[in-house]
Amino acid sequence: MRLIAPSILAADFNNLSNDIEMINRSEADYVHCDVMDGVFVPNISFGAPIVQAVHQISKKPLDVHLMIVNPEKYIQEFYHSGASIITVHYEACTHLHRTIQQIKELGIKASVCLNPHTPVALLEDIINDLDMVLLMSVNPGFGGQKFIENTYNKAVVLKEMILLRNSNALIEVDGGINFEVGKKLYDSGVDILVAGSFVFGSTDPAETIAQFKEL
Ligand code: DX5
Ligand code: ZN
Repeated sequence: MRLIAPSILAADFNNLSNDIEMINRSEADYVHCDVMDGVFVPNISFGAPIVQAVHQISKKPLDVHLMIVNPEKYIQEFYHSGASIITVHYEACTHLHRTIQQIKELGIKASVCLNPHTPVALLEDIINDLDMVLLMSVNPGFGGQKFIENTYNKAVVLKEMILLRNSNALIEVDGGINFEVGKKLYDSGVDILVAGSFVFGSTDPAETIAQFKEL
């Protein structure tokens, strides 16, 4: 699959509805919402009220990336805010299996994110419970950072694990993605690309989204 999820972290917060309407008209598959708490990552972005506001006008499903400690406490709230996929960080979950079941019991998609230093092998015993794995290709916390090259290897190892274990998990990659990086990732078996600054910093974001789908 070659799907694209623009990250609204790079959108114009003074005119967010404008950017959501652009995404509605575009070929985007999801709206990627980056929730940061200033504890798990050194930055604060937005929380459930903004996700809910986006949900009210978005025609695309919301892909909610929780960069927060104790995500299990907030799953209910983000579910009610309209999340279709909830991603929690491996590094933030002591009882990851329980947290994943908690998400799945709500009837939405459950996903785990790995920071750049966290090996894919740690997912072996949970891969069959997951709808998606998100590989961070930058250290989470900020948009506009440089893509970490080792992510290509991680994508290949993860794809092998998914095929070997007959898992249905899709692979998403997040951070520092442009057309060049994106093409290589799709070719390595990645299903969903997240792109923030490259989409919203371009002169025609809807066209940039369309071009990702042609890579
Ligand atoms: C980083 C976020 C990303 C970010 C990507 O912590 O998880 O989703 O918005 O932004 P770019 O595409 O600018 O690297
Ligand atoms: Zn993200």
